Amino acid sequence: MAIIFKELLKDSKSRARLGELETPHGKVETPIFMPVGTQATVKTMTPEEVKEMGGRLILSNTYHLYLRPGHQLVRKAGGLHRFMNWDGPILTDSGGFQVFSLGPLRKIEEDGVRFRSHIDGSEHYFSPERAVEIQEALGADIIMAFDECAPYPCTREYAVKALERTTRWAGRCKKAHGREEQALFGIIQGGTFRDLREISASQLLELDFPGYGIGGLSVGEPKELMYEMLDYTVPLILEEKPRYLMGVGSPDCLLEGVARGVDMFDCVLPTRIARNGTVFTHTGKLVVRNAAYAEDFTPLDPECDCYTCRNFSRAYVRHLIKANEVLGIRLTTIHNLRFIIRLMENVRRTIKEGTFLEYKEKFLSRFNSD
Ligand code: GUN
Ligand code: ZN
Repeated sequence: MAIIFKELLKDSKSRARLGELETPHGKVETPIFMPVGTQATVKTMTPEEVKEMGGRLILSNTYHLYLRPGHQLVRKAGGLHRFMNWDGPILTDSGGFQVFSLGPLRKIEEDGVRFRSHIDGSEHYFSPERAVEIQEALGADIIMAFDECAPYPCTREYAVKALERTTRWAGRCKKAHGREEQALFGIIQGGTFRDLREISASQLLELDFPGYGIGGLSVGEPKELMYEMLDYTVPLILEEKPRYLMGVGSPDCLLEGVARGVDMFDCVLPTRIARNGTVFTHTGKLVVRNAAYAEDFTPLDPECDCYTCRNFSRAYVRHLIKANEVLGIRLTTIHNLRFIIRLMENVRRTIKEGTFLEYKEKFLSRFNSD
């Protein structure tokens, strides 16, 4: 058995739940946020730093590592864990989402997707079998089925085609998957159509994956619509399977996702906005790059316990970023990741204490989500 998921505790006032995910590289508690390490690095952080701030499970990308340095090279290095010196669990996304995001550079066929590299324009082909083969070479603990993520908005006809293809591809992934110590998750699609979500979930449940991604959300639709899809989709997934909401990330969406029964999340948001000088605070996002903070000698967030907030001021971090000093984006990255990881620590603590909904409401009443 590649992973063992246990539901430890159910919240009595919401669908939130506390769980434990056991992988070949250790156990993690859920709900969990996975920092994104697209190119086998959580940008600007060492693995020790990620671990130090409470990161336990990280995500990496098949598409990027296949193109550079190449999955065979990673395999020769002893696999992704050894290559990047991260000894905790890793999840790799299948490349489906990245390839579909390439726009005019790609062509979808029943067998797979032809695409051009964003690096040098060279031509490549991903099929479900190929995506599994690459992810087996990378050697993550959890790997994802190759899926088709429909854009938003899209027509019902398009969403039907994408979800049906996703089911066929999921079956092919399952057949191609041979490394038993890796867990292969299916991905539920269906756009923003309730009945299509149900069809996708029931087809994928029939294939009996050890866990399920909920894909095709957070792609530009209103947040309320995403919450509605979660209200509808999550209860369709068996309780004993972990549920992973893909690409979600902002503090408010994390809390709303947990309340609807989601166990796992990933998003580039905290690390991406950090690199352009934006940080989370308990009252909302703050653009520390702005002139308003030039002489502000308080921490990024006075309530934060991260290394940056314990040692440096907004004025100093702003100065570093304005001067293009690499320490600046390291300090904002440390802060944003710790902010999100601590949010999830509080989520797990309050589920245990039976006060999750109160915590969520209190957090959201202060946090300006734009
Ligand atoms: N990341 C965010 N959304 C998706 C999705 O729908 N599919 C995949 N594979 N990855 C994602
Ligand atoms: Zn901080």
